[in-house]
Amino acid sequence: MNMFKIPESIYFGENAMEALKTLQGKKAVIVTGGSSMKKFGFIAQTQQLLGEAGIDSLVFDGVEPNPSVQTVVKGAQAMRDFEPDWIIAIGGGSALDAAKIMLCFYEHPQLDFADIIPVGSMPALRTKAKFVAIPSTSGTASEITAFSVITDLENHIKYPIVSAHIVPDVAIIDPALPAKMPPHITANTGMDVMAHALEAFASIAANDYSDPLAMRAVKLVFENIETAYKHGDDMAARDNMHNASTLAGMAFSNVSLGLVHSLAHKIGGEFGVTHGLANAILMPYIIEYNKQSTDKYAEIERYLGLESIENELRALNAKLDIPLTFKEITEVEISEEAFLAVLDRMSQNAFDDPCTLTNPGTPTAADVKEIYRRAYFG
Ligand SMILES: NC(=O)c1ccc[n+]([C@@H]2O[C@H](COP(=O)([O-])OP(=O)(O)OC[C@H]3O[C@@H](n4cnc5c(N)ncnc54)[C@H](O)[C@@H]3O)[C@@H](O)[C@H]2O)c1
Ligand SMILES: [Fe+2]
Repeated sequence: MNMFKIPESIYFGENAMEALKTLQGKKAVIVTGGSSMKKFGFIAQTQQLLGEAGIDSLVFDGVEPNPSVQTVVKGAQAMRDFEPDWIIAIGGGSALDAAKIMLCFYEHPQLDFADIIPVGSMPALRTKAKFVAIPSTSGTASEITAFSVITDLENHIKYPIVSAHIVPDVAIIDPALPAKMPPHITANTGMDVMAHALEAFASIAANDYSDPLAMRAVKLVFENIETAYKHGDDMAARDNMHNASTLAGMAFSNVSLGLVHSLAHKIGGEFGVTHGLANAILMPYIIEYNKQSTDKYAEIERYLGLESIENELRALNAKLDIPLTFKEITEVEISEEAFLAVLDRMSQNAFDDPCTLTNPGTPTAADVKEIYRRAYFG
């Protein structure tokens, strides 16, 4: 038996924010990040639309990038004080992820963070509130997924929390929000979407429900990312990228990912390489490797009319000012010495990452090390 889980309602396209007017309830807590959503007027708009629905709202802001356990605990306390029947998360993956776990602690105040780390340990939710997710980046697809990534600051560990209970009830995919992203965030988050779609498509858990979503997402990213990067106010390109992110999210939330994410997670952890940038660099090398054990890439090449998807990805990276190797990146400098010093440990850790489990073929830690070497030296 298999199961495919997505939010109950997905509102998309320009003015999708108006869906907030249709909610039925009394009180909402709006969870958001630093300053961008407020600065661009989206928090005021959210409060106004909720007001039209007769819903009183409280804003919990200041969720930091890579949200911490402490922030989640604080947010849950604010929810217990205000007693909302809706949680509205608006912002990047960080704000959405934090709000998911706040909802859990709001409903189950007796739980500690450690209680919900094991997969399947989270109790059922929705006894007090329902959950709306409004993403402002076209990347993580947290508005769809059963995942939340929370950082334990004391132990310096990022924990992925996995539970079908944190899949939002309502996702609002309005391109006005990601249209405010600066170009480099558009490029990095957009290539993260490409990685989600291609890895879900090649996943050994891929199925007839996930494949059409993943294929369409790959096509939309190929056709729109360069325009979204170079002409950020092109709303058609923004809309297509935002939908691609959500489609890819529906696929990977249900069939998981692969080695690109395993290796990106660990080189991100060692050197602070931005997630989407790491994915973009790794993808061509890993596809070359994976082609030995799956014909899924041939299938997507036929669908898109491409000769070599890895070469197309290299060409796309060049258009987005993304280099071919980790040696050449500028956001952090990774010296050859520093890279080689951690290579064995990083390779073993990437091999042990849960995303490796659904990669096609039977990769080994030695294979992972060789891929890292190629992605560093070219
Ligand atoms: N839940 C999941 O399925 C999932 C999947 C992958 C990653 N994650 C997690 O998501 C987080 C990353 O999320 P993210 O990439 O969306 O970034 P983010 O939420 O961390 O935001 C990054 C920065 O971009 C700003 N920003 C966001 N939207 C903007 C906009 N429209 N205009 C201008 N600035 C904007 C934010 O204020 C912030 O400073 C990480 O914590 C990661 O671990 C979650
Ligand atoms: Fe990702």
